[in-house]
Amino acid sequence: MATAKRVEIVILCFALACYCVNAGPRIRPIAGPDIYKGQNIAKDSLAPGEKIVNVMNFGAKPDGEFDCTQAFMDAWRAACKSPGQNRLLIPPGRFLVSSMFFAGPCMAPKPITIQVVGTVLATTDISEYENGEWLMFEDIAGLKLIGGGTFDGQGQESWSQTEDCEKSGSTCVRNPSSLYFNKVTNGVIQNIKSVNSKGFHVFVTNCANMRLRRIGITAPDTSPNTDGIHISHSINVKLSKCNIRTGDDCVSMIQGVNNVTINRVNCGPGHGISIGSLGKYQNELEVRGVRVLNCTFVGTDNGLRIKTWPDRYTGAASDITFSDIAMQNVKRPIIIDQEYQCTPANCQKKPSLVKVSNVAFTNVRGTTISPIAVDLRCSKQFPCQNIKISNIYLKHASSPISSRCANIKPVYIGMQQPPPC
Ligand SMILES: *[C@@H]1O[C@H](CO)[C@@H](O)[C@H](O)[C@H]1NC(C)=O
Ligand SMILES: *[C@@H]1O[C@H](CO)[C@@H](O)[C@H](O)[C@H]1NC(C)=O
Repeated sequence: MATAKRVEIVILCFALACYCVNAGPRIRPIAGPDIYKGQNIAKDSLAPGEKIVNVMNFGAKPDGEFDCTQAFMDAWRAACKSPGQNRLLIPPGRFLVSSMFFAGPCMAPKPITIQVVGTVLATTDISEYENGEWLMFEDIAGLKLIGGGTFDGQGQESWSQTEDCEKSGSTCVRNPSSLYFNKVTNGVIQNIKSVNSKGFHVFVTNCANMRLRRIGITAPDTSPNTDGIHISHSINVKLSKCNIRTGDDCVSMIQGVNNVTINRVNCGPGHGISIGSLGKYQNELEVRGVRVLNCTFVGTDNGLRIKTWPDRYTGAASDITFSDIAMQNVKRPIIIDQEYQCTPANCQKKPSLVKVSNVAFTNVRGTTISPIAVDLRCSKQFPCQNIKISNIYLKHASSPISSRCANIKPVYIGMQQPPPC
């Protein structure tokens, strides 16, 4: 009896120790039910009894100069923190707003709607954003952000002060993202525009069951770190019919991403659709289940990319498919780069510890501007596993193109232009 008890206690301690170690700093979100399943989410109408809460009734002025932050916060509180179905309305006009939270949980049982018709402008003093992003949507179960309006980050005022986070590593201070969704479930972000974000345009983290549709994203190709849509630690995300022209990745996905579909996204200018960089932080959660289909890339630096750091931490990316992709003048159309940001100095050290497996590139066609069109450089320690390359037809305007492979044995199916390694 006494022995049995002791064994139990030992097992319990073991389990706790394992739990704490595995839990690490982050926990993968759980999906829960998808409340929009089978519904036509493209349609918007006022729900019976839904009341409109207009920011104008809380002191907002649509002149683009008056600071509307307090008015927006008061209106949000009135819409979210009172019972009954309410809708926050930002009518036509230009509304200047500083860093602020749209914090939940909200009291209404149904999703809360934020309808943006006008333009929301970010204030330009970057010191106002030291502790966060621009517009932060947090702890909301059921959110619709719709209305055809525009979020203008006015980033052109601060881009010159941007640090390059890809080069300077984990201590880097990012510029604030324009729309930051943290712990939002059942979110529909639809028919809105983001221009000139200071940092990322849209940041999705710790979210589940998200739909991002018809989002127009614009910033100059020279704007630094202005990723279009950045996703981490999120499950069941569907991104469709977006036009993204920006200075960094059109879409970037890092650790903890699970079940993401990207359909009919047009990218360019920009740095393509990227998984990674991975292996940058300790205890990274794996990336699993990403489908990119029916997308186009015009004049982008990269097309379809998986990138991982050498000489850093463990991680994994698996079950990833890229299919039906059109490329026009793309620099690196297909690239697995497990020597990301590699310099002759650090690449001599340790190979990447990120495992890349079950990846398919299918039906990729169009034009490239560089001689290596399919560039697959995997880790010496963890060679890429089960990589399929099917029906690739890429051309260069004037010269022949080739493939490059390291630590990978892809399975080739159908047409291959460039020829396989
Ligand atoms: C993946 O997400 C989609 C919604 O984006 C959902 O319909 C589907 O059931 C999810 N798949 C799994 C295996 O959970
Ligand atoms: C891609 O788009 C075309 C036309 O828009 C459509 O016919 C095709 O079924 C789509 N492919 C996928 C995989 O959705």
